[in-house]
Amino acid sequence: MTTHSPTSQKRAAIILAAGQGTRMKSPLPKVLHPVGGRAMLDHAIDAAQALGCERIVVVVGAHSPQLRAHVAKRLGEAAIAVQDPPLGTGHAVRAAEGLLGDFDGQVVVTYGDVPLLKAADIEPVFAVSDGVAVIGFEAREPGAYGRLVMEGDTLSAITEAKEASAEVLAITACNSGVMAAPAGLLFSLLAEVTNANAKGEYYLTDVVELARKRGAPTRAVMASEDSVMGVNAQDELAQAEALFQKVQRETFLAAGVTMAAPETVHFAWDTEIGAGTTVEPFVVFGPGARIAEGARIRSFSHIEGATVATAAEVGPYARLRPGAALGEGAKVGNFVEVKNVAMGKGAKANHLAYLGDGSVGAGANIGAGTIFCNYDGFFKYRTTVGEGAFVGSNSALVAPVTIGAGAIVGSGSVITRDVAAGDLALGRGQQTTKTGWAARFMDTMRAKKAAKAK
Ligand code: UD1
Ligand code: MG
Repeated sequence: MTTHSPTSQKRAAIILAAGQGTRMKSPLPKVLHPVGGRAMLDHAIDAAQALGCERIVVVVGAHSPQLRAHVAKRLGEAAIAVQDPPLGTGHAVRAAEGLLGDFDGQVVVTYGDVPLLKAADIEPVFAVSDGVAVIGFEAREPGAYGRLVMEGDTLSAITEAKEASAEVLAITACNSGVMAAPAGLLFSLLAEVTNANAKGEYYLTDVVELARKRGAPTRAVMASEDSVMGVNAQDELAQAEALFQKVQRETFLAAGVTMAAPETVHFAWDTEIGAGTTVEPFVVFGPGARIAEGARIRSFSHIEGATVATAAEVGPYARLRPGAALGEGAKVGNFVEVKNVAMGKGAKANHLAYLGDGSVGAGANIGAGTIFCNYDGFFKYRTTVGEGAFVGSNSALVAPVTIGAGAIVGSGSVITRDVAAGDLALGRGQQTTKTGWAARFMDTMRAKKAAKAK
């Protein structure tokens, strides 16, 4: 037997994403649909990177410029292999040969539509350094999956359901599709694969029997069915999301986050929450949320791209958008939207406000109905509120503008010029009071109404 062990421990990945995804019935390419707020393809790339794959090739079809652009942005043009037309999984892997044919190391084949598979699940396939290893799973309903035909520890073949005898169809150990082998071995085996089968496709799975014929070891390592689930239609995408959320909820509960109704809280792939933080029911975290220890996120809040420090309180019904940064003990209350604004220690905006592009100093108080007017229809400008300042209710701060430390803005003001530290600014119509006018008016009107009723 010739040995195919690579001379190095280098790893590469080929991620298949050439399918059209027609069953999604969506204009967005299938693998760009998100799970946990991140494209499924990016989950697959994350896993490949976490495995230490120094080269990653994504096999795309000829039909999607959007997918190409996505891959090019993350990995560069050189990571793209085009399979056109798609003639089967074996053919798809061969499409990467031009980019990886010279690679001296092990190659793992993964899929852009298998979003829950983690590096730790894939890692065991690399243990077989001189043969072919696949990830299998026990299928609840084996259906159309390829069956793992075992002889003791050896995987003697993967038989596609369409080619299988009744006896083989009874096998419940199935092929996830993930396979690893030394690059040289993989491509030389693939060169022997034909499309003489029920589907007329080049099956990647045929390399198992071909490897056996050459005397190379062939193994299967098992993973959970949930971790290898593939997404083909919207219901499966929702199912993948549900599984993803379940894991996130369990992870945060185990890490000391208090949640009375975890099943109502939605997390993103990169959400961070410190121990001792309470997350009330019906909170949604978009990507990029970092919540420190001992904070409180109250019901119906939406948090994305924002950081929240210890002892800060958000909501109920608050929206933190990208760039919102709440300092220690800061408070953002109901119907307050914060975008790209840093709020200092203990700063407060408790009701009905829009704070966009600027900063609020420590201990400052932003009254109900305050608006940072940050946009003139063309450009955006910053509003700076100094430490300990007090902005009265229903004020419009027209940016660019600075309210100095300890300054006061009277309620209902439209502030267009800077206010120095310690000053009071009033930008509103003057109040006039007419003594006794209302009483006289009401008396007259009451008398008129009584006369009419007679
Ligand atoms: C494949 C496996 C089967 C396994 C199942 C797991 C083969 C022959 N069969 O079957 O053993 O149980 O996956 O889900 O490999 N793709 C391309 N180009 C192609 C064909 C497919 O990129 O020409 C991609 C698809 O986008 C998809 C993946 O490969 O992500 C699997 O292809 P699919 O046609 O669904 O294979 P199955 O018949 O399901
Ligand atoms: Mg399939």
